[in-house]
Amino acid sequence: MANRGNFSGRLGFIMAAAGSAVGLGNIWKFPYEAGQNGGAAFLLIYILLTFLLCYPIMLGEIAIGRKAASDAYGSYKQLGGKNWGYLGLYGILCGIMILSFYNVVAGWAFGYFLEISFGNLLDHPNYGTFFSEYVIDFWDNLIFSACFMAITAFIVLKGVQKGIEAASKIMMPALFSILILLIIYSLTLPNASAGISFYLLPDFSKINFQTVYSALGQAFFSLSLGMGALITYGSYVNKNQNILSSAATITVMDMSVAFLSGLLIFPLVFSQGQSPAEGPALVFVVLPGIFNSMGPIFGRVIGGGFFLLLCFAALTSTISLLEVPVAYFVDQKKWSRKSTTWLLAGIIFILGLPSMLSQGAVKMFSSLPFYQGRSALDFVSEVFSDISLPLGGCLMTIFIVRRWGTHNMSEELYQGNETYKNSLLEKYINFSIRYICPVILGIFSILIIIDKFYGVDKLMN
Ligand code: TRP
Repeated sequence: MANRGNFSGRLGFIMAAAGSAVGLGNIWKFPYEAGQNGGAAFLLIYILLTFLLCYPIMLGEIAIGRKAASDAYGSYKQLGGKNWGYLGLYGILCGIMILSFYNVVAGWAFGYFLEISFGNLLDHPNYGTFFSEYVIDFWDNLIFSACFMAITAFIVLKGVQKGIEAASKIMMPALFSILILLIIYSLTLPNASAGISFYLLPDFSKINFQTVYSALGQAFFSLSLGMGALITYGSYVNKNQNILSSAATITVMDMSVAFLSGLLIFPLVFSQGQSPAEGPALVFVVLPGIFNSMGPIFGRVIGGGFFLLLCFAALTSTISLLEVPVAYFVDQKKWSRKSTTWLLAGIIFILGLPSMLSQGAVKMFSSLPFYQGRSALDFVSEVFSDISLPLGGCLMTIFIVRRWGTHNMSEELYQGNETYKNSLLEKYINFSIRYICPVILGIFSILIIIDKFYGVDKLMN
């Protein structure tokens, strides 16, 4: 037990967990989801769900991990018996599958960073064509995502303090600084205010079932909840640390970066008269045009800076995703950290190949017959993240309520924060864990599954 590793202190944990949270989800996914789902209305629901459901769930995960001081599987097993251990394994599987496609998109970001800064991307006559040709280029994708996975593995194998914590402590402040500089620039562009009002003035007629569940899925994904990443990180936290305030800081940091990315991207998009509802290609297709308009040198610097930012954000997240299965094999099977890390990185990379080849390179993966002709990347991301994370969160709250006990969760949270005892916050958190989370997440999990495979609108008519 002694040498499992642990964070050096409060800052180390916050930076690593915020690093896990802040990622492609904030900078790539959040703006395009918001752009497709009515801008401000989406933002509002997203913030509401985060306070109502996600913060309590985050506390639950960290408390479970710190109490049991083990990986996701070991923690559930120790606190709840062998059968609950399967919930941990479910989370580990989700982590593996999420990393498999996440690394592909991270590879695009890495490739774009190089192509913009040092290549000729900005001179290309059509960025839409460039992107669709880029994502089917086998060798580029293979090499860049392999590099990304290798860098991830290299940091993870160095361990909790020297690898994960050290990397996050450098990259998170760097990310914040690049982001702020880019926003200052974007706000000075002509017509920036149209982007701001799209983003900040809600149009409630845009809200429907899909807006709400996209916001829910986005919130879970963005905060790295529902699959045991924070159980694993929680297991490296010292007993005297105040989990309540750390989790609040992590949540606020994650929301701020998502919020700020919107503030960066929508003024850019509107200043060029582009559509905010571009979908997943938003940052890859719309932004290069904007960088190009900044002139050859400035465009390279700002554009390169943006994609470098995306790489930093993605890297602190891939680290956390890889750490979850690594911790499992190291804790449970007593494998060495080094060989486990390389082995898993290799396997997960291979598992990502269908997603990598699903953007038109290989027809079989680009149009799955059993998934309404959609791509393998859509399939993996929707099944293992949009569906599985809210479901995992739901099952975790059931675990706390029916097996471990909310009083035990509270006990764990008292350590490091005596004032939590009998506070209003404690009553609220317990109420949310007991009723709000299981009910809302349960209902949504079922509806999301129906929607993904059959379409909820068909059901309602
Ligand atoms: N939260 C990260 C993002 O927003 C992705 C991520 C990292 C993640 N670890 C996770 C998502 C664990 C779900 C579960 O990009």
